[in-house]
Amino acid sequence: MASAQQPLLAECCFRPMTEADVPQVMDIEFDAYPFPWSEQIFRDCLRVGYHCVVVDGPQGLCGYGVMSTGAGEAHVLNVCVGRALRGRGAGRALMHAMLDHARNAGVELVFLEVRPSNRVAIALYESMGFERIGLRPGYYQASWGREDAFVYRLALVPQPLA
Ligand SMILES: CC(C)(COP(=O)(O)OP(=O)(O)OC[C@H]1O[C@@H](n2cnc3c(N)ncnc32)[C@H](O)[C@@H]1OP(=O)(O)O)[C@@H](O)C(=O)NCCC(=O)NCCS
Repeated sequence: MASAQQPLLAECCFRPMTEADVPQVMDIEFDAYPFPWSEQIFRDCLRVGYHCVVVDGPQGLCGYGVMSTGAGEAHVLNVCVGRALRGRGAGRALMHAMLDHARNAGVELVFLEVRPSNRVAIALYESMGFERIGLRPGYYQASWGREDAFVYRLALVPQPLA
């Protein structure tokens, strides 16, 4: 059973990220990744108009996603759920929210990179239909030097006309 500190997904809403969210986003980012993005990267993503969403709960932000779109393609650049909400469907819901946005923007192909060591994220992406299409050698920083990236792709089915 969830404790008072653990938010339920049903109590959270998805909304666009704003500049004011960046400090809370950074708290989650630093806790989630050994090599986190800088605050400036998030601010740049907002400034250039990338699709940046947050999962907002009763006790504050509990997740976020960042995706670039253009020329019929989208790139999921970051998807992250705070530890307190993990394992309750928020990551999947975040991905669905970003894919819905991409579909509405006319995107046909979505790409992402993931560390081969990130079994949870890989399970999520593969369960959503992403296919592994390649490898970028030494793409990520790692405590032992560099880690490869798996490259994944999803072909989106266009929205039927209403
Ligand atoms: C990856 C991440 C976003 C998943 O978010 P989440 O809210 O915990 O995931 P969900 O509860 O929506 O679960 C989605 C799927 O992920 C997989 N998954 C979730 N937790 C898992 C676990 N502990 N072990 C194995 N697979 C797991 C399952 O396939 C699950 O689907 P299922 O519930 O139908 O079995 C989250 O773990 C996270 O933020 N991790 C740190 C940041 C990160 O690595 N981001 C991805 C960078 S590429």
